[in-house]
Amino acid sequence: METLDFDVVILGSGIAGMTSAIHAELASGERLRIALVSKVHAMRSHSVSAEGGISGVLYPKENKDSASLHGYDTVKGSDYLADQDAVQMLAESAPKEIKFFERLGVPWNREENGRINERPFGGMSVPRTAFAADKTGFFMMRALYDEITLHKGIEIFHEHIVTALLVHRGRFVGLHAIRLRDGRHFLFRAKSCVIATGGFARIYGFATTAYASTGDGIALAYRAGLPLKDMEFVQFHPTGLIPSGILITEAARGEGAYLRNSRGERFMERYAKSKMELAPRDIVARAIMSEIEAGRGLRNKESGLEYVHLDLTHLDSKRIDEKLPMVRDLTTKMLHIDPSKDLIPIRPASHFTMGGIHTNLYGDEMLGPSGKVADGIWAVGECACVSVHGANRLGSNSLSQCAVWGRIVGTSVARHARGAWKVASDTAGRLSAEEEDRIAGMVDGKGSEDPYEIMREMQATLDRNLYVYKTVAGMNRAIKDLKKLRSRYVDIYIKDKGDTYNTNLRDAIEIGNMLELAGVVAECAAARKESRGSHYVLEYPERNDERYLKHTIAQKGIRGTRIGYIPVRIGMWKPEKRVY
Ligand code: FUM
Repeated sequence: METLDFDVVILGSGIAGMTSAIHAELASGERLRIALVSKVHAMRSHSVSAEGGISGVLYPKENKDSASLHGYDTVKGSDYLADQDAVQMLAESAPKEIKFFERLGVPWNREENGRINERPFGGMSVPRTAFAADKTGFFMMRALYDEITLHKGIEIFHEHIVTALLVHRGRFVGLHAIRLRDGRHFLFRAKSCVIATGGFARIYGFATTAYASTGDGIALAYRAGLPLKDMEFVQFHPTGLIPSGILITEAARGEGAYLRNSRGERFMERYAKSKMELAPRDIVARAIMSEIEAGRGLRNKESGLEYVHLDLTHLDSKRIDEKLPMVRDLTTKMLHIDPSKDLIPIRPASHFTMGGIHTNLYGDEMLGPSGKVADGIWAVGECACVSVHGANRLGSNSLSQCAVWGRIVGTSVARHARGAWKVASDTAGRLSAEEEDRIAGMVDGKGSEDPYEIMREMQATLDRNLYVYKTVAGMNRAIKDLKKLRSRYVDIYIKDKGDTYNTNLRDAIEIGNMLELAGVVAECAAARKESRGSHYVLEYPERNDERYLKHTIAQKGIRGTRIGYIPVRIGMWKPEKRVY
């Protein structure tokens, strides 16, 4: 095992991780040594797949918009579970960050007068989503990557999988990682650590996200004893392409696409009369499943999946080429259909995880419900629950979250890392050596369970029991299934015993992480006996503010997950009935 010393180590190289790295560099006057550690090549981080855009009020007068309206839409969209001071911060800071990315070179779509074009997105009162065609994440990532190469203080460690977050007495002491190329083990020691590893939507089989979205950083934090927040809230994007789940961007509906059932009806009229297809995602996803359950869906023979249609055929073909080129590309390549002539088969797919590492307003990771901050650890992006999305995120608010908290967290870690370093080097070395032994034991183990089979069963139970509509029996079934799968996981075998690109080992580590988080999701879901945002339970169809206007906090205990609750920070927007 080799030890590497840095001032700051950032785990994850998506938009949140790279933005934090750049702001840490800038805030320190380029005096820090920063390691950016990623299990994939940085440019393959899942952020490259972000499509529809980034929210922010750029033209308040012209669009009759304001930060406070953006805040209101976000809080209402969150079903009142978002912390309102965090939402205000998001809405007030997002425009500045869109301009920051403009300076980095993102080619925003523009109107004829040169202004950045903004398109409508679900749950937003006015168009406020800036975009670069339907490849916004890709362009933002490319701009960040280009910028990072100009900063000598930032070193990228591509394809290193981190297996342990080393915390001693509430304080960060290091990360243990394996270099995939040759299986070498590394201890990254630093004064400050930022976790930016994204979400865990891949615990489901039918998902829009990359296979890499396995929630590694969240699982590492949980195992290190740190609390997670609101894990029961998983977002289902209404338009996952059949049969793969690949994302068909909400921007398609923003540009005017319709949803139609098997009878050709625009059924959203029954569920959200004023917003129709541009209602928030939780409502649209439920509407699609209600249509399917009422027998007004269609069935894909190959996969058995039931679906409805997304209809772009009334849109000008030129508009599709200019603003939705990826929709054309994907449907042509995957299904051999032409979106300007053919209907697109879709159904809700797991897409985003609102819950994550419990942080305060500034991205500092908390030690527990008491509000004590873990020394030297921050979390940012989808892996962090700040919380701005509450029970349901509005589309395009995630990129703004990454950009806004990327700056906040980058600036804070820079300040922290300028302080004296009293690293407990013996402790970090000992913990890292123990971790190396644990991994060796995993590879050499003579278990009989196939980790890939465990993953398939985990995804099947989640797809069945923790999908858009939940039942009490289904949630209990999932808890039982996952418990059994966790005990089988202890007995897995790793087929490849080698050191060079041991993807079997990497996958087994990821599966272990997902399994851990899936269990927490199921337990937190069963404990919340109400319906709010993405969490809808047939036996408890109403929101219950009296009992559950609270964030769920989950911590790893000796006998399983310990669940508690903390208050939501309410500001100027009092909870009211959510009608669209
Ligand atoms: O549909 C989309 O383009 C997704 C955007 C988002 O999740 O923010």
